[in-house]
Amino acid sequence: MPDQPIPSFYNDLAETRAQAWALLARGVADRRSPFHAPTVGSLGLDGRPRVRVVILRGCDAAAATVRFNTDRRTDKFAELASDPRVALTGYDSGSKIQIRIEGEASLHSDDAVADAAWEASRSFSRICYGTAPAPGVMLSDGGDFSLPAEDAEIAAGRANFSTVVIRARTLEWLYLAHAGHRRARFDLSANGQNVWLTP
Ligand SMILES: Cc1cc2nc3c(=O)[nH]c(=O)nc-3n(C[C@H](O)[C@H](O)[C@H](O)COP(=O)(O)O)c2cc1C
Repeated sequence: MPDQPIPSFYNDLAETRAQAWALLARGVADRRSPFHAPTVGSLGLDGRPRVRVVILRGCDAAAATVRFNTDRRTDKFAELASDPRVALTGYDSGSKIQIRIEGEASLHSDDAVADAAWEASRSFSRICYGTAPAPGVMLSDGGDFSLPAEDAEIAAGRANFSTVVIRARTLEWLYLAHAGHRRARFDLSANGQNVWLTP
């Protein structure tokens, strides 16, 4: 195996934190980035943990937020409405970096944040919000659902659309390196501590 070059962030907490946010920003912008499709965990209405893949649609390092879109009719929407505690994890097997975020979700359906997210979405993505019956409904046949075809029907899917902003409280970093793994935790509250952890 070729030697892994030591990146400049390796032993630098501030640079590591900046690198984490840069990777998340690339996850929003680049469909080929592994951070484009992280896993989001919520608490089921029965208290059991539930995780699923979503597409990262927004990231703001200064505000310590990340964002994804979802259908208001999904279980995750009801779960996050009931308990906003949320976790998001992504892993890049190429650079061997895992990023974990824990925080609180705010659900946006009828406000300017949701309008902007809907405007930014492509028509191909918008079609999903017109699925009938609603996501998760039991079907007698696998193909027994419909997607909107007409522009007006696609536009009507806006009623089911929401965007979820995760305000990150902590961001945890794990970098697997031949020279020795590096793990760090960033408390993203004002004056929060940045610390190394045993990997
Ligand atoms: C690559 C990929 C991307 C996905 N992106 C989203 C997404 O952005 N938002 C979403 O709600 N579901 C997305 N899903 C579907 C979810 O993983 C999940 O199956 C669905 O939303 C139902 O989850 P729930 O019942 O826990 O709400 C995606 C699935 C995959 C495989």
